[in-house]
Amino acid sequence: MGKVYITTAIPYVNGVPHVGHAVDYLLADVCARYQKQLGNEVRFQAGTDEHGSKIWQKAKEQNIPVEEYVAANSKKFQDFISKLGVEYTDFVRTTDSDHQERVQKIWEKIKDHIYLAKYEGWYCSGCERFITDKEYEENNGVCPDHQKPYEKLEEENYYLKISDFKDQIRDAIESHKMLILPEFREKEILKLLEESPDVSISRPRSQLTWGIPVPGDDNQVMYVWMDALSNYITVLSYPDEDISNWWPAYAQFVGKDILRFHALIWPAILLALGLELPKTLSSHGMILANGQKMSKSIGNVIDPLEVLEKHGTEAFRYYFLRHVDTFADSDFTWEKFEDAYNNELANDLGNLVQRLSTMCKKNNFSLNHVPEIKLEKEYCDLMNEFRFKDAFDFAWEKVQAINKKIDDEKPWALAKEGNVEKLNQVLSGLVVNLLEVNELLKPFLPETSAKIAEIFTNEIMPPAEPLFPKK
Ligand code: MSP
Repeated sequence: MGKVYITTAIPYVNGVPHVGHAVDYLLADVCARYQKQLGNEVRFQAGTDEHGSKIWQKAKEQNIPVEEYVAANSKKFQDFISKLGVEYTDFVRTTDSDHQERVQKIWEKIKDHIYLAKYEGWYCSGCERFITDKEYEENNGVCPDHQKPYEKLEEENYYLKISDFKDQIRDAIESHKMLILPEFREKEILKLLEESPDVSISRPRSQLTWGIPVPGDDNQVMYVWMDALSNYITVLSYPDEDISNWWPAYAQFVGKDILRFHALIWPAILLALGLELPKTLSSHGMILANGQKMSKSIGNVIDPLEVLEKHGTEAFRYYFLRHVDTFADSDFTWEKFEDAYNNELANDLGNLVQRLSTMCKKNNFSLNHVPEIKLEKEYCDLMNEFRFKDAFDFAWEKVQAINKKIDDEKPWALAKEGNVEKLNQVLSGLVVNLLEVNELLKPFLPETSAKIAEIFTNEIMPPAEPLFPKK
């Protein structure tokens, strides 16, 4: 049995969870559940990113002490993750005292690669990010994500010498020792790496009060990304404990918007610490609402709790894992969601379970023994390549094939003819097929898969209610 460590990006707590936040968790959860199916022991981190000016500002606007504000929002994220049926093992808050102390120790350990210098350039307070002159020109001085002009900054910062590690990072990316997914992003990241100056990892206390103090310099506070990226190892108790059981991570899931921090700054921190790089950085696309970026000002933000309340966890997982591309941007509309629910979950799967179990019960058919099921190679290949949507499609085609087989083999006609031997043979084939598919559905629809396994044991019992009542 191997040990597998899987991580998710830690969201800022300057707002409540939206549907986009679900993507990291669901992809990581599918990965984790599949690894457990293979017999591996999994550690699965989640958490919240709680420092930075934006968060501090929000708390101030609402007249709430910042500690209370971040605690309340962090709790909302924790509840949200649980509602998604995500089985995480560790939850880190960047305001945890253990995390803060460990980040300071990390800083001390990489000190040889840190220097103090003056920054003169551009900054986006929306992104909490320094902007290169090239980006400034490309975007005509306005942040495309926040529609706000970049601010001119002149301040002293500590810098991490990315330049000490460029060759090692490039080699790791090119050799796929640190695999970047989807692979078409690799080129883009390599280009950014070549262009990347050393990065600022602190800000003057006058600009940023809500953050972890830089050890040995009362005037400087750590920049949010230095603090946040470290969570992936502080949660494993680094540097207080040996983490070689779990590190390097098997997979780190992030959105495409933050891949650059994970593919450039994060590897530099790890290399400075003498730690290995993660094996895979998997980046997903954005969830759009009717083809547009979700934003409060447009008023098209979808509340995930509303979706969960109306349709439940399994339907949410179904849509976001099958109708949302694993790597590209995808759309959410209520219409698409409801179509997928009624035509696919309710019709293809719910109906199949209902009619097959009812036929078995009516004809006194029972399984002599529940067969042991091996996962198919084609499915495993897709899962091992992190192509989760494709693997889910593969499983769903098999669900549809069983429905077709029922229509072709017409067990009801065999029952009418009294051809018991043939009938039992057909039902047995169908039930085994369904149990095989059910194993493939397990990482995606864990609750449903458990219910199906319970229905189709030796004594087959139709469910009292359809698994997915039509809406
Ligand atoms: N705090 C940083 C991450 C630090 S990780 C060491 C951050 N937070 S975030 O709240 O802005 O984003 C958290 C995650 O949610 C990221 O992976 C981001 O890509 C993802 N998403 C945010 N909006 C999204 C969509 N609309 N669609 C899909 N994912 C989205 O960045």
